[in-house]
Amino acid sequence: MSETAALVLKLLREGPQTPSELAETLRIPLTELRIHLDRLREKGMDIAPHPILGLELGPPPRHLVAEDIASRMEPCGWTRIETLDVTPSTNNLAMEHGVRGGTGPVAFFAEKQTAGRGRFGRIWESEAGEGLWMSLFLQPSAPMVSWPRLTTMAALALSEAIEATTSLTPLIKWPNDIVCREKKVAGILAETGSHPENGPFIVLGIGVNVNQTSFPEAISETAGSLRMLSGCPFNRSTLAAELLNRLQALIPLIHSDFSSVLEGVKKRSSVLGKHLAADLGGMLVHGTAEDLDSEGGLILLLPDGSRRNLHAGEVTLRR
Ligand code: BTN
Repeated sequence: MSETAALVLKLLREGPQTPSELAETLRIPLTELRIHLDRLREKGMDIAPHPILGLELGPPPRHLVAEDIASRMEPCGWTRIETLDVTPSTNNLAMEHGVRGGTGPVAFFAEKQTAGRGRFGRIWESEAGEGLWMSLFLQPSAPMVSWPRLTTMAALALSEAIEATTSLTPLIKWPNDIVCREKKVAGILAETGSHPENGPFIVLGIGVNVNQTSFPEAISETAGSLRMLSGCPFNRSTLAAELLNRLQALIPLIHSDFSSVLEGVKKRSSVLGKHLAADLGGMLVHGTAEDLDSEGGLILLLPDGSRRNLHAGEVTLRR
């Protein structure tokens, strides 16, 4: 991804500009600007001559362009955004990046995954061009013991980003599913790895069902897309940038103010106060979701009055 090309798009998004104005603002020669403009056009960005004002940015393409996403972001620490057509799994890409000694942060996006995976080894349907299939490669400076907080933060950032981009009010189904009107619209799969010199890393795999109009029968009862739930399609780059911006703002709170993240999560929880069954890796426990503990674990009030703090697993609401 070229940061200069992303800046070109950011500037043009503010309004038409002449090539000389752009080159001057970016402090690059006109010849270099032309190379960036050609590459952006090759990637599908609509940059056309304006009759009077120079160059004008048209509507974004349907496919994801790394520079387009970056141009919608706050000036930032996401050093790299990579967009691919097809890959088995963006989590694999990010894990391989870490194992090869790559550094972060990097956000990997793919139009289609051929072996997208979810929690508990489930298949994650990743149809071409319809969702956000992305993985963030991070090397947090916080001690590893607090890394599970990142998944909670990703869930909050994701629900906020969906709310800001759509008319929907998404809720967080503990631990980190995003649901709208009881349909799962997004999920998060966190994986960790380590490199002998660069140390440990975490990959936050995020799948958002954005523009699908139907799902395979096996998941059609439980899954929903933002489009199906709101009635209109959404630009995936806008949602991606919104999510990355929010995550960027939240991640520093891992050290300083995780309690405010938890407050945000509690307000959006679809399970607190509800009676539910929790699957703890094969063992089923019933109880009422009473609260979240200081690490984002779910405090379950059991029928005998005792409490159990859950730190992983899957819950099902009981009616
Ligand atoms: C879940 O709810 O089970 C988690 C789903 C995570 C899916 C995403 S899509 C991008 C990334 N790549 C994968 O293979 N999985 C995650």
